[in-house]
Amino acid sequence: MIEVLDAPSRQAERATARPRIIAVVNQKGGVGKTTTAINLAAALAACGKKTLVIDLDPQGNASTGVGIPASKRAIGVYDVLIGEAALHDAAMPTETPGFHIIPSTMDLSGAEIELVGMPRRERRLADALDASIGAGALDYAYILIDCPPSLGLLTLNALTVADGALAPLQAEFLALEGLSHLKRTIDLVSERLNPRLALEGIVLTMMDRRMRLAEAVAADVRSHFGDIVYKAEIPRNVRVSEAPSHGKPVLLYDLQCSGSRAYLKLAREFLRREKILPPKGQSGMGQAA
Ligand SMILES: Nc1ncnc2c1ncn2[C@@H]1O[C@H](COP(=O)(O)OP(=O)(O)O)[C@@H](O)[C@H]1O
Ligand SMILES: [Mg+2]
Repeated sequence: MIEVLDAPSRQAERATARPRIIAVVNQKGGVGKTTTAINLAAALAACGKKTLVIDLDPQGNASTGVGIPASKRAIGVYDVLIGEAALHDAAMPTETPGFHIIPSTMDLSGAEIELVGMPRRERRLADALDASIGAGALDYAYILIDCPPSLGLLTLNALTVADGALAPLQAEFLALEGLSHLKRTIDLVSERLNPRLALEGIVLTMMDRRMRLAEAVAADVRSHFGDIVYKAEIPRNVRVSEAPSHGKPVLLYDLQCSGSRAYLKLAREFLRREKILPPKGQSGMGQAA
C-alpha cells in the first residue's frame, strides 16, 4: 500500500528537466543540415552542454558521419516512432564526449508511409520524448534533430516536438524563396500543432565570399530575416566535407581549420542567444587531433 501511495511522488522526483529541442530543418537537400547538426552538437558538447542528435533522415548521414555504420545500429529512431523502443534506450554515445546520437536505420525509409495510419501520427516523437523525460531517463541540455530534405511526416514529428527551428541555408539562387516556404510551414505548425515553435535561427553555410552571388544572397537573407540570421557564417572548407568519411565531427578531425572555428563560433553565439554563454576558452576538446 505504502508502495502504491509512494509511487507518484517518486515518479515526480525521477522526471528530468526537459532539454531544449531544436529541429535542424530545410526542405532542400545538400544545404548543410546534417553537417550543422553534427558539428553544432560537437561544439555544444565542447562547451560543456550534453547534446543528443536524433538522425531523422532515412539516409542516415548523421549516424555515418559520427562513426556509427549501419552494422552497429541496434535500435534506431524508427523503433522509437513505432513505439517499439524507448527514446532513451535508442541513444548511443559517439567518440565525442557529451555527444550522443539516436541513429537512423534502414526501416526509417518506410516510416513516412507507415506513420500515416498510426494514431497521433505527428506527435509520436513528442510522446516518446515525454515518456523518457517522465521516466527520468534523459539528461541532455540540447537535442538537435537532423531532418530529412522534405516537409513530410518525419519532419512534422520534429517540428511538433521542437522548441525552435534552425535552418541551414546555402547562399545560392532561389535560396530566399525556399526559406519563405519553410517559414510558412513553420508558422502553420506553430498555429495548429505546436505553439512553442518558431524559426529561431538561420545559418549561412558553405559560404564562399569570393562569389558575388553568395555575397548578394547573404545580404538579401539578412535584410529579410534580420536578427535571426546568425552572425557566424560557415565557410566552404574541405576539412568539413572530409570529416564524415573519417566518422568524426570536424572539431575532432581538425580543430584548427576554418570550419571548426566557425562551428565553435556558431555554438557560442547560439548559447549567447540562450543567455548561458560559457566562459571563453572553456573547451573539452583539448584531446582533439
Ligand atoms: N562548410 C562546408 N564546406 C564544405 N563542404 C560542406 C560544408 N557543409 C557541408 N558540406 C558538404 O556538402 C554536402 C551536403 O551537406 P549536408 O550537411 O549533408 O546537407 P543536408 O543534410 O542538408 O543534405 C556534404 O557532402 C557535406 O560534406
Ligand atoms: Mg542531411
